[in-house]
Amino acid sequence: MDNTDWHEGNTIIMHRVQELDRSPIAFLFDGHEVTGFEGDSILVAILARFPFLRKNEFSHQPRSGFCLMGACQECWVWNKQGERIRSCSTPLQAGMELFSTSPVIQGELAHES
Ligand code: FES
Repeated sequence: MDNTDWHEGNTIIMHRVQELDRSPIAFLFDGHEVTGFEGDSILVAILARFPFLRKNEFSHQPRSGFCLMGACQECWVWNKQGERIRSCSTPLQAGMELFSTSPVIQGELAHES
């Protein structure tokens, strides 16, 4: 399953309005090299570069978080071990490898096709 097509060609709606000399932090999201900044949540770092986080597994509509305080399930992303992470309440760390869909599910779907 190619999970990168939805990232490009859509308008990024979140823009940083002020930067305070924070250190850049490199990470991967769906195979894209991305740079966030020290103190970013994963959600902020992704939405500063991409139009949304993921697509809903049932409706396939774009999702970009809702409550922004760790109470809903709209901001899930996955790490390469297949663990779900609430991106709004998880600090970005250098070298993270994150996915908009569970890599376990992607692997299962790849075996079916
Ligand atoms: S946006 Fe609701 S838990 Fe992250």
